[in-house]
Amino acid sequence: MNPRILTILGSTGSIGRSTLDVVKAHPGAFEVRALAAFGNVEVLAEQYRTFRPKYLCIVDQTKRARLESLLKGEDVEILCGEAELVEMAALRGPDMVVNAVVGAAGLRVSLRAVEEGKDLALANKESLVAGGPLFAPIIARTKSRILPIDSEHSAIWQVLQCGQKEEVRRILLTASGGPFRSLELSQFDSITVEQALDHPTWNMGAKITIDSATLANKGLEVIEAVQLFEVPAEKITVVVHPQSIIHSMVEFRDSSVIAQLSEPDMRLPITYALFWPERSESAYGRIDWAKMGSLTFEEPDFGKFPALKLAFEVASAGGTLPAVYNAANEEAVAAFLDRRIRFTEIGQTVARVVDRMSPETDLTLEVVLDADRRARRLAQQTMETIAL
Ligand SMILES: NC(=O)c1ccc[n+]([C@@H]2O[C@H](COP(=O)([O-])OP(=O)(O)OC[C@H]3O[C@@H](n4cnc5c(N)ncnc54)[C@H](OP(=O)(O)O)[C@@H]3O)[C@@H](O)[C@H]2O)c1
Repeated sequence: MNPRILTILGSTGSIGRSTLDVVKAHPGAFEVRALAAFGNVEVLAEQYRTFRPKYLCIVDQTKRARLESLLKGEDVEILCGEAELVEMAALRGPDMVVNAVVGAAGLRVSLRAVEEGKDLALANKESLVAGGPLFAPIIARTKSRILPIDSEHSAIWQVLQCGQKEEVRRILLTASGGPFRSLELSQFDSITVEQALDHPTWNMGAKITIDSATLANKGLEVIEAVQLFEVPAEKITVVVHPQSIIHSMVEFRDSSVIAQLSEPDMRLPITYALFWPERSESAYGRIDWAKMGSLTFEEPDFGKFPALKLAFEVASAGGTLPAVYNAANEEAVAAFLDRRIRFTEIGQTVARVVDRMSPETDLTLEVVLDADRRARRLAQQTMETIAL
């Protein structure tokens, strides 16, 4: 079998590195043609030496000279800046683009990949959240496929193969509940950055870890599922499952519930997407049933985690509101990580921005990007009035 040729964007991050782990563990199955990062040139250069891609892209222009000096004399083409990152998604040769970029910056990359008919292995949930409806008409034309990497969406995708779309009663999207599931609401104001970065079951990048603590991540996943599986938000139920063993379930109309389980390890859903439609031999996330213990389930507390409730409203409203929710959340999370606002003010900022921006329903990429920009400005203004 010919190796599958890959472009991996966001290769220096948590998902990017896990993807390269999977590639390394399956010699001969993949060829890495292109890698991209925002600014981490040291890791990118190290990845170059291991995987020998033909192209590298660094988005932060100030880091180009450093990357060139690290790789002096090597036979590699170095691209630079956001526009070249987007074009990298359309390179001739690769069959598959892995989008592991964090944030709304991933949207244009995803669109470019599907426009070019590539298979898109998608970790960047913000693409579908911000611009979900833009994908369907392109995919209808180019026959590109979106292969989800997010563990919950990978689980749902796998389980949906057990029945017909019209047989689905509801999707049960599981959530670990994050580090503050059992904390009293009265203590939420004093949550520190370090506490919020200490996730109980998953080891991930900083932004998604904070989102997992506010449950905005689950909110983004609800919106992502609406777009990916074409189900209304009312057909999605979030179930808190602190052990993170069941990655999601589907309840069919005969009341059968089918689930996908493993130990939490992102390399499993990455492997599934990279090898799809086949399953490869691998042991990531393999369960030791003798040590499993009990699996528990509870309802999410919308009072403690208002970002989740708001996400359901935004998912139902559609139009530009999901992009607004996402952009305001990105700004608020960055401000919290900078210690400019409190933990509880992340959700307050997002709620105020969503409340103040009127949704537009006639979506184009320009309309989405404009809503994203305006939401970020409004989030900054909002945070100035509530800053510590
Ligand atoms: N981590 C997980 O377990 C997990 C699970 C499910 C879904 N996801 C989703 O996967 C995506 C990546 O998450 P992560 O945890 O891997 O994030 P991460 O560790 O922060 O890595 C982000 C990657 O994107 C690059 N990047 C950052 N800003 C960029 C920009 N403006 N343009 C282009 N590249 C940029 C980073 O480059 P530098 O290193 O140079 O900054 C890095 O390679 C997110 O959308 C997240 O929601 C993650």
